Amino acid sequence: MDVTISLTVNGIERAITADPERPLLDVLREELHLTGTKYGCGEGRCGACSVLMDGKRVLSCVTPVAQADKKTITTIEGLATGDSLHPVQEAFLAEGAMQCGYCTPGMILTAVALLEKNPDPTDEEIAAEMNVNLCRCNGYPKILNAVRRAAEKIQR
Ligand code: FES
Ligand code: FES
Repeated sequence: MDVTISLTVNGIERAITADPERPLLDVLREELHLTGTKYGCGEGRCGACSVLMDGKRVLSCVTPVAQADKKTITTIEGLATGDSLHPVQEAFLAEGAMQCGYCTPGMILTAVALLEKNPDPTDEEIAAEMNVNLCRCNGYPKILNAVRRAAEKIQR
């Protein structure tokens, strides 16, 4: 039976009527048309669908939308402030840390969550936190550089 779920997505309050087990990813993409959040594996193994829920990274393909009730969700579309990119977005651009870009929204949101709880991570901590995020283009060295660059900027 469908239920109504109230959530705030990128600063906008929303009420969604849906099957409570429906993946949050489906709701974001198909109901709210926030297609920056990507479908990769659909089973929690690639990180392409990463979003922030109350500031913590979740894999939206394996998160039932009911879990988002009364929560705050941030997708890649909600990360910039007006025309100002988030420091992690700026760092990915500056380092050219994307090729096809399919993994990039998930990478960026995972890095944002990481730097929020650990503003000065070691390379090992970055790799450990981001190891669920896969990049088919094998862009890992530049992605690592981008996260380091963002960390330096955030600390300044
Ligand atoms: S699509 Fe969610 S982890 Fe792969
Ligand atoms: S840039 Fe293509 S999958 Fe990562």
